[in-house]
Amino acid sequence: MPDTQTMKDAVGIRGYDYIEFYVGSAKMTAFWFAKTLGLQITAYAGPETGVRDRVSYYLTKNKLKFVITSAVQPDTYEITSFVTKHGDGVKRWSIEVDDVERAFRYATGHGAVMVTRPHKLEDSHGYVMEAAIRLYDDTELVYVNRDYYRQTLRPGYCKPLQNIRIESQETGIVGIDHIVGNVRENEMNLWADYFNRIMDFETFVDFKAGDIGTKYSALLSKVVRSRSAAIRNPINEPFEGLKKSQIEEYIEQYHGSGVQHIAIATENIVSSIAALRENGVEFLTVPDTYYDMLRKRDDLNITENIEDLQKHGILCDIEGQGYLLQLFTKPIGDRPTFFFEFIQRRNGSQGFGKGNFQALFESIELDQKLRGNLDREYQPTMPAC
Ligand SMILES: [Fe+2]
Repeated sequence: MPDTQTMKDAVGIRGYDYIEFYVGSAKMTAFWFAKTLGLQITAYAGPETGVRDRVSYYLTKNKLKFVITSAVQPDTYEITSFVTKHGDGVKRWSIEVDDVERAFRYATGHGAVMVTRPHKLEDSHGYVMEAAIRLYDDTELVYVNRDYYRQTLRPGYCKPLQNIRIESQETGIVGIDHIVGNVRENEMNLWADYFNRIMDFETFVDFKAGDIGTKYSALLSKVVRSRSAAIRNPINEPFEGLKKSQIEEYIEQYHGSGVQHIAIATENIVSSIAALRENGVEFLTVPDTYYDMLRKRDDLNITENIEDLQKHGILCDIEGQGYLLQLFTKPIGDRPTFFFEFIQRRNGSQGFGKGNFQALFESIELDQKLRGNLDREYQPTMPAC
């Protein structure tokens, strides 16, 4: 792993912090996150804690921090309009920095679109500093520092009032590996340049036409990352194909650009996926032929038992000395938009599973076809019942 102390960037990035979702029903979504991912509902904000227009549940596990928020009044326009247009989705993701004012000054000085200036959120436990800039259509990137706050998340949050009993299998998930954005055709370079300029990021990988796709659908992708590699942010855009790519479907169904998936790191993906399946998470299916191909590779030198990978449907991508193991959920909400990835990196792997893209796309195309969204014109299928 890169030494984050010696590779400090101009922005003073420490790592991922919280991710906030705007959803239709925070209480029910928080229950799903807690039950399936094995997260703890750590804190709550709402009318009982002095927040009149919304409810938020703060869920944590190891380094993972999720906030699930819903409007409780129709005039909470910021949330209701987001959910009406996009469905449930990621409103903001945040980065912990040494100094919020410095990071924000650097960003706006290099052309970032401002959302919220640096401001102090204060109560008797100290204060949290935050600022936000625009990302994609309706998404925000937040800089946060809570060095001088002795409580959880931020003022306005208290211990959860709800007494919800949730039992689930231990998932062993530890933190964010990367966050991926989907943008429209011809937007990828714009957003990659934006990140590199305002965050002092660098372009790490550039997947060009022909690198990723099946005979039907294709995409272009650039990965920008912080100099310490603590933050990795792939950006996808659709590329011309015979049929509609999953990125086009996302843009249509989300009604714009936004966060496509969050990859969550685990130190033992076999036991994590077993537990996640047991907890009710639905994953993309991988055909047995994938494992027949994997067994034939002469550079296959992995610690895991291939039968275990096949049993749990886990994908494996080998890159030089390192390799990664990964698996993708189906979209977690009602629209075919946001999903999770689970990933384990071995022997210094830095990639994103390029060798798995074909199997992955073919699996997604089957679901797209069922939804009638694979062809450019809507092609209704017979009801699957
Ligand atoms: Fe990913």
